[in-house]
Amino acid sequence: MGIVFSEKNRVFTLHTLDTTYQMKVDDFGFLLHLYYGCRTDGNMDYLLHFADRGFSGNPYDAGDDRTYSMDFLPQELPCQGTGDYRSPAVIVKNTDGSYGCDFRYQGYRILEGKYQIPGLPAVYADAGEAETLEIYMEDRATKVRITLLYGVLPKWNMITRSACVENQGAGKIYLEKAQAACLDFVSGEYDLLCFYGRHTMERNVQRTPVAHGAQVIGSRRGTSSHQYNPMMILAEQKTTEDAGACYALSFVYSGSFKGEAEKDQYNQTRILLGLSDEQFSYPLDAGERFYVPEVVLTYSNLGLAKLSQNLHTCFRTHLCRGKYRDCVRPVLLNSWEASYLDFTGETICHLAEQAADLGMEMLVMDDGWFGKRDDDNRALGDWYVNEEKLGESLGFLIQKINGLGLKFGIWFEPESINEDSELFRKHPDWALTIPGRDPVRARNQLVLDFSRTDVVDHIFESMCKVLDQGNIEYVKWDLNRSLCDCYSRGTEDQGRVSYDYMLGLYDFLERLIQRYPNLLLEGCSGGGGRFDAGMLYYTPQIWCSDNSDALDRVLIQYGTSFGYPMSAVGAHVSAVPNHQTGRITPFHTRGVTAMAGAFGYELDPDKLSEEEKQEIREQIREYKQHAALIQSGLYFRLTDPSVQQAGAWEFVSEDASEVLVSAVMLEIHGNMPVNYVRLKGLERDCMYREAKSRKLYPSNALMEIGIPLPVRMGEYHAYQMYFKKEEK
Ligand code: GLA
Repeated sequence: MGIVFSEKNRVFTLHTLDTTYQMKVDDFGFLLHLYYGCRTDGNMDYLLHFADRGFSGNPYDAGDDRTYSMDFLPQELPCQGTGDYRSPAVIVKNTDGSYGCDFRYQGYRILEGKYQIPGLPAVYADAGEAETLEIYMEDRATKVRITLLYGVLPKWNMITRSACVENQGAGKIYLEKAQAACLDFVSGEYDLLCFYGRHTMERNVQRTPVAHGAQVIGSRRGTSSHQYNPMMILAEQKTTEDAGACYALSFVYSGSFKGEAEKDQYNQTRILLGLSDEQFSYPLDAGERFYVPEVVLTYSNLGLAKLSQNLHTCFRTHLCRGKYRDCVRPVLLNSWEASYLDFTGETICHLAEQAADLGMEMLVMDDGWFGKRDDDNRALGDWYVNEEKLGESLGFLIQKINGLGLKFGIWFEPESINEDSELFRKHPDWALTIPGRDPVRARNQLVLDFSRTDVVDHIFESMCKVLDQGNIEYVKWDLNRSLCDCYSRGTEDQGRVSYDYMLGLYDFLERLIQRYPNLLLEGCSGGGGRFDAGMLYYTPQIWCSDNSDALDRVLIQYGTSFGYPMSAVGAHVSAVPNHQTGRITPFHTRGVTAMAGAFGYELDPDKLSEEEKQEIREQIREYKQHAALIQSGLYFRLTDPSVQQAGAWEFVSEDASEVLVSAVMLEIHGNMPVNYVRLKGLERDCMYREAKSRKLYPSNALMEIGIPLPVRMGEYHAYQMYFKKEEK
């Protein structure tokens, strides 16, 4: 059983295959956190330490006992107003204007299956795969209730947390902060790994010791953002890829967020993740409920590789959905870097002909096909086909492309609007702008008020009208700016707008996948500006970065791999000099790098030599051969490309019989030392045969000493080696 409650000790224990999570209802009804780590039996309430400490106040009901204080006890749901002066997970502003909430235990329920959250993405599980624990807490003074939700997926070593706040009082209250996950550690020295970046350079890894004070990451951009990913790892300072304890917290939400890691006055560590509390003041009238978006937790005592693999497997099989979840995705040619906004139907058709000739499977018509979209200053919002520009109807164009044996995909940016659009001229109040103020423009566009259902409905209908014009099998859903001016004309409570916007977005996406169950959706926000677990619930793949430079991609994909499965990483081979960096890399290197994810091309084949075209055919053949392994194999980072001379990674089949090793040289020097890449995850005491050389290698040596990357003249060479285990 995954969830056990001991009536005697009032201790809840959640077990997964390899981990245990424990908490206790104490004498006063507070819910104290006891333990999260390696699987164990027993009662860990011995870890609680009580002491009379100056300036750490005591709850009233502790009476004369000065040793009991929320200021240092580890908690499941730290609230502002209980005498805990560390960062809280919940802040409530009450009807009388006072701040404070003091949730005490009321009861619990253990349910079969994994809870779902109305209107929000969440990990799901089939019958028998999960259990849910609901813990009911109440603030006695105000009758505000909170139900803490714990989902336990034993096989995947996953624990999920969410909460539902319900106003059972008589007046209106405001939620000022709402975070689903808090982990308190009474001992240990930790590092925080976070994933920072910028447009075209997302998810760089930063590892820093958790120090006194708080380290805060987050987004106030209305999207999860390029700048910080909503994912945090807390690792013991000695933890490496292969050994040591570490914890991951991943937010299943795509809007503004806040993550905090704090070392307190007693050297204890607290980590929190959830909604951003800026511009957040969510009203709850009597009887109303609020759902806190979910945070996924996992633990590994076998280092970071295992931690990432836990997340990969869970997200790939219990968060992503739809027809394409377990399928190898079609190899596509995207028109963006081939022709940008400058194309006609003929251009698209010509691209498709070449794609077919080269062995690709889908043509994606990117930005530029709708309204008067001749440049990127206008027409967002006008989701009707510009037949004049295409020179033909969309239906006819699709038929021709399907006739070539290719699938057809199309780009949308449903949340955005240009002032120069028919939609804006008709409904200027549909954009997020503040009355009396000039809005902030970005890429010369504004964002639609998706907190309003009438706006969402209109865009949904116009999108469906396009999708119904032919056999469209893929949609790239983009958003090319951060939100600002978050003011809605649909409400008087502006503190609810950014959360309601996300509900509107998720509702739209849900309706889309229900209406078009066979559609492959790819998420995108200027590349990887919304690469998060929330989006993966709707879009099983996300364009990882607008940077298609093979070398930068090695770094970006390295950072991304800590939290997300490679099946979700949209990765394309593009032209050189690269359009984002001007760098020239070998064609083979671009192929090897893009093959680490959902593979495709983003270039104009007309500009390629016959030799390069032949290389594409070869690459696709090779990709297809390994695609299933890439899609669902265990992923290992073999080097750290931010400090090593080579970037290297590996996919290993679950039974360790197949291994695909890829490496890219990031540096070249005179009289270059040889780089040996150590393989991981192979079966010990076995022989593995490399497919191209037909050479046999002992697995122990491959893992302990490595395989040499032969030194070659020239920059940025790549290596791809496929090994198969020999039967004994
Ligand atoms: C964003 C995307 C690109 C492309 C353009 C089109 O930047 O990330 O791939 O679709 O928009 O405007």
